[in-house]
Amino acid sequence: MKAAGLDYSARRLTVRELPEPEPSPAQVLLEVVEVGVCGTDRELARFHLGFPPAGQDFLTLGHEAVARVVDPGPSGSGLKRGDWVVPQVRRPCASFCASCARGRRDLCLTGTAPDRGITGIHGYLSTYAVDRPEDLVRVPEALLDVAVLIEPMSVVEKSLETALRFHEHGPRTALVLGAGPIGILSALLLQHRGLEVTVASLESKTEPRVRLLERAGIAYSCGFEGIRPADLVVEATGSPSAALAGFSLLAPLGVYAIVGASDPIGKIPLVDMVVKNQVVFGTVNASPRAFELAVSDLAALDRSVLQGMIRRVRFDGFEETILQPSPEVVKFVHCVE
Ligand code: BGC
Repeated sequence: MKAAGLDYSARRLTVRELPEPEPSPAQVLLEVVEVGVCGTDRELARFHLGFPPAGQDFLTLGHEAVARVVDPGPSGSGLKRGDWVVPQVRRPCASFCASCARGRRDLCLTGTAPDRGITGIHGYLSTYAVDRPEDLVRVPEALLDVAVLIEPMSVVEKSLETALRFHEHGPRTALVLGAGPIGILSALLLQHRGLEVTVASLESKTEPRVRLLERAGIAYSCGFEGIRPADLVVEATGSPSAALAGFSLLAPLGVYAIVGASDPIGKIPLVDMVVKNQVVFGTVNASPRAFELAVSDLAALDRSVLQGMIRRVRFDGFEETILQPSPEVVKFVHCVE
């Protein structure tokens, strides 16, 4: 079968012929139908993070997948041939730490729980894949047109659930830094939870992604000037200077969720954080509950805005979607025929 990924010997993106995976008795055989591309894939393709499976020089990319069940595997899996699923990304760490043992691999204590398509396990940009049933999230057919957003939305759900838990009084206003897929999904979810949301990013107001926010009734600021401090700030740019600016845009009791990974260079206002009782936290990956919430919340959000985020392209063409993506498109999705 064909698989798209990274050749670690030649250090380039390529398509390889790999043997079709053989499911063990505990596994489900999946036919992959589509796979979304995200900023993590871009970092991987630049060899800034990630690594291939042990003893191999190739890593199949892709961790935002929608797939159809070909063989439901073990009886009692609750799955049947033809069912639609989205796989969770993370698998338990080898030492089965307390978090991984209680089903919260996203909180792995050893920091070694592997992510499929990222760290040591092949991803889903291939014709077939195998998985254990407990790693799969069922997708209702009515959600298929936007199901590829379930994985990124699960990351957003976890961050928002954590932020709401940390805020002492229940936040009313939110500021999202960045208008990429995570920024837009965060803004839509915060608005859905009843907060007054502003997105701040660098795109001009005529960019398609900013028009999507406008269609959703979400305020947009090009740059950070004139923005009022917010009860919740979500950092979804991955830019060190934006991450630093976020600290000064946090209201008293404010909670700052760092979803984009970057190390800010500059002075972090720790005294301000103390006297204003603020919380800053980082978050990665998602819990099984966050995946379930992603399914139900995506079904409730404005479908035309979600659809407007997605551009479907053929299986190949990764150089463009991963390495030189058009800024007009929020989420490139590869169709695996
Ligand atoms: C994925 C997460 C994953 C993380 C690892 C993100 O793009 O959505 O599931 O844990 O990358 O860096």
